[in-house]
Amino acid sequence: AKTLAGRRVLLTAGPTFEPIDPVRGITNLSSGKMGYALARACRDAGAEVTLISGPTALPRPAEVHFIAAGSALSMHAAVMEAVPHHDVFIAVAAVADYRVANASAEKLKKTPGQAPTLTLTENPDILASVAALPSAPFCVGFAAESHNLLAHAQAKRERKRVPLLVANLAQHAMGADDNEIVLLDDHGQHPLPRMDKTGAARAIVAHLAGMLPIR
Ligand code: CTP
Repeated sequence: AKTLAGRRVLLTAGPTFEPIDPVRGITNLSSGKMGYALARACRDAGAEVTLISGPTALPRPAEVHFIAAGSALSMHAAVMEAVPHHDVFIAVAAVADYRVANASAEKLKKTPGQAPTLTLTENPDILASVAALPSAPFCVGFAAESHNLLAHAQAKRERKRVPLLVANLAQHAMGADDNEIVLLDDHGQHPLPRMDKTGAARAIVAHLAGMLPIR
């Protein structure tokens, strides 16, 4: 069923890459599989989809507007520009919490006995920025936790002020083709059975579609 017909959905997916110099950087472990699966599931449900992706090895989904992003700052800028044209925002990207403040425009040369010192500075929280907009789209967040999944996820849902949060255990989900997730909304916790990321994405879309305001 085309449960998202007429809806415009914006997603972030994959990791971000924070440069140290032109050939090095700091990144997060994220294959992008869950975000890309969700982009395809939203498209298949009839939505017009924009996918803003960090670097991944995945093929671009067909019939999806695709914007490549590198750093968290560039992903943030791309999201803030695109968001006014969308009804739903799904933040799946594993955004680096910090970037290198003293990144070098030139390749750092190795000086024996003199390791460089990297200074880190905080990146913007893309999901929180979008959720705080005066006319914010319906926001969906993800939480990958390594322990105390439900407690951390519940706290994250409240902190980021999102109506729907998808929680999974990082050690199960990372790079894998399947996932075991729990959906958290105002009504509480909805655990889903373990399934592949395509199935999980469809289940998230079904739940999300049921929460959207009727137009
Ligand atoms: N997120 C984002 N921008 C950031 C950090 C996170 O949009 N700079 C989004 C992610 O896409 C995800 C959600 O926020 O939807 C959860 O991110 P996470 O990093 O797990 O949450 P944090 O608030 O950073 O908490 P912690 O790292 O302490 O678990």
